[in-house]
Amino acid sequence: MNTYIGVDLGTSGAKFLLVGADGRILAQNTQEYPVFYPQSGWSEQNPEDWYSAAISGIRMLLSGQNAADVKGISFGGQMHGLVALDKSDKVIRPAILWNDGRTEKQTEYLNEVIGREKLSAYTANIAFAGFTAPKILWMKENEPQNFAKIAKIMLPKDYLAYRLCGAHVTDFSDASGMLLLDVKNRCWSAEMCGICGVKEEWLPALKESWQPCGTLKEEIAQQLGLSKDVVVCAGAGDNAAAAVGTGTVKDGSCNISLGTSGTVFVSADRFSVDRKNALHSFCHANGKYHVMGCILSAASCNAWWSDKILQSSDYAAEQAGLEEMLGKNDVYFLPYLMGERSPHNDVNARGAFIGMRPDTSRGQMTLAVLEGVAFALKDCVEIAKSNGVNISSTRICGGGAKSALWRQIVADVLGIGVERPSVEEGPAYGAAMLAMVGCGEYQSVEQAAEKLVRVSSVTLPDPARTELYRKRYEIFRALYPALKESFSLMNA
Ligand code: XUL
Repeated sequence: MNTYIGVDLGTSGAKFLLVGADGRILAQNTQEYPVFYPQSGWSEQNPEDWYSAAISGIRMLLSGQNAADVKGISFGGQMHGLVALDKSDKVIRPAILWNDGRTEKQTEYLNEVIGREKLSAYTANIAFAGFTAPKILWMKENEPQNFAKIAKIMLPKDYLAYRLCGAHVTDFSDASGMLLLDVKNRCWSAEMCGICGVKEEWLPALKESWQPCGTLKEEIAQQLGLSKDVVVCAGAGDNAAAAVGTGTVKDGSCNISLGTSGTVFVSADRFSVDRKNALHSFCHANGKYHVMGCILSAASCNAWWSDKILQSSDYAAEQAGLEEMLGKNDVYFLPYLMGERSPHNDVNARGAFIGMRPDTSRGQMTLAVLEGVAFALKDCVEIAKSNGVNISSTRICGGGAKSALWRQIVADVLGIGVERPSVEEGPAYGAAMLAMVGCGEYQSVEQAAEKLVRVSSVTLPDPARTELYRKRYEIFRALYPALKESFSLMNA
């Protein structure tokens, strides 16, 4: 049987899957690498760490497997990261990641001086601090010596593809998050390149996510024990890849990801832009479009609270018995540990617990963290609704989705059924599916999803709790506006 490698180049590590053409997972592993926070609000990684992880991950994946069966490889990757190479293909500086908040000034310049209307007309989006274009402007202003060396720019997963096959390529879904792509017309925006001082020759060639970019370089194929005919397909931003992996490819279908970030992703057959640009309007990996809200800290809030503060990595034990409190907790948590993207677009926002009393328990605070993330996702869902998008159920994926309690909270807070696919590895599985389509195993992304993705469980909302959460959400949504000014003073 032909087999395919799916890679999810995440923030805390990379996940590798070997998947048979029939959809069965034959092997998997995760390779971790560090994130560096050189200054408060900054976040960086070394592209070389991604490459080393890919080499060890793929080699480990193939141990005990028939490497000759591998026909293709593709990627889902953390979006928006700026990777800049010089003319001899050396990485100029560490990659600046999607959750980096250093570009407040550049983001403001783009939104206020160039203007939201123009940005939206050129790209279908406005500037958010994590997007790639403000980072390029930041580099131009703050590191002119580095900026002068740029010969190529690319996104994280595209760097891996470049190292593996030598093609300087990206796909439309990931390119959408650069703020350099004219999303509607699926081409680079000459206006945005002009505004950011980007030469078009620096930019990767654009492909659909399933399209082949090339085959493995001979020396890489040898090193990995693979054939040099293994096809490298473009892949997608991790959220679009996760949508493929969870079967979120039909018009109006939704996927929620509870990873380091949290996202509400709604697949759309037609291009549309939300009136206030609070949601991103991006290309999908199936050749169509999607709208998406992204909160910068989701499962990472629970990891911070449990690992760092409670010093307990037994999440299940921390969450045991909390079901009884669902809908009744009157402690609130604002999940803005890295500032916030959707909908507040505020790098200064911070995490906060509110509402404690002398009898507040550890369990209530743990629950508040999980609920705060669900409320922040509801902020995104409410915007989608106000634009006429009706979300009647959702798929769910990401590390946080393993918690039955968290799935129930999401179902209750949003008042919709939450479907868990039988394969949990959203982006990596979606990446393998894209490689299958690129190699002709399936005729389209939709066909692959139809044949390969199954739902293993559905968590239904409890109407009484949904009503309780509706009232609590009104309190939650008033907290950020009340604190906004103080957050900004704290960072002044
Ligand atoms: C999406 C976003 C995050 C990263 C996480 O816009 O910034 O979901 O892709 O990897």
